[in-house]
Amino acid sequence: MRTEHMHGEATSLKRREFLMASAGLAATFALGGLPRNVEAASLTLPPLPYAENALDPVISANTLGFHYGKHHVGYLNNLNTLVAGTEFADMPLESIVVATTGKPDKVAIFNNAAQTWNHTFYWNSLKPKGGGEPPAALKQRIEASFGSVEACKKELAAITVSQFASGWGWLVLEGGRLKVVKTGNADTPMSAGLKPLLTIDVWEHAYYLDYQNRRADYVNALLDKLINWEFALKNLG
Ligand SMILES: [Fe+2]
Repeated sequence: MRTEHMHGEATSLKRREFLMASAGLAATFALGGLPRNVEAASLTLPPLPYAENALDPVISANTLGFHYGKHHVGYLNNLNTLVAGTEFADMPLESIVVATTGKPDKVAIFNNAAQTWNHTFYWNSLKPKGGGEPPAALKQRIEASFGSVEACKKELAAITVSQFASGWGWLVLEGGRLKVVKTGNADTPMSAGLKPLLTIDVWEHAYYLDYQNRRADYVNALLDKLINWEFALKNLG
């Protein structure tokens, strides 16, 4: 019995070693053999750069929770599903946006990729206790392009509020000058060769819980109290 038992232990050990080695081999083999879409790492969202209640009361925790946790995550999940197994599966997000811009057969991928990118850019365009005076280096550029910070804010608010239906208002850089533009739905100024500096989301999900139809109140409050001028300066490079 004893011999058998010892023999049994030795066998078990050997068997365990064999299984571990096999598992290692299997893992290596599986990694090399998996289809591209399974092997590729899915795109992920960066966490919000502040707490969900940090922009309250200008943007409530309720709005932010739905906006980030449902809408933004929803675009990302759609995107990961759409690109699985395609030529876009291994691309960084920005490259997917650029590669699918203006391609009628890639509209769904573009929409979800651009919305994923735009929203991350939007979270960073805001900060708790934002607004106020831009840093001196940015202020100088704003004054050169718009005359004053107030004029810049007024133009950005006006163009953003005037976006018909869903879309985005942007402060951008074009040929060394700052300007304001608006885009519809998921569109991004990058498609037109413009460099985004700041954005404001005017899809209704961005403000309807807090402001209902008062889009202008949302945009003006955001510019006065949340806009992140430091982020714009960083993007200016
Ligand atoms: Fe949004």
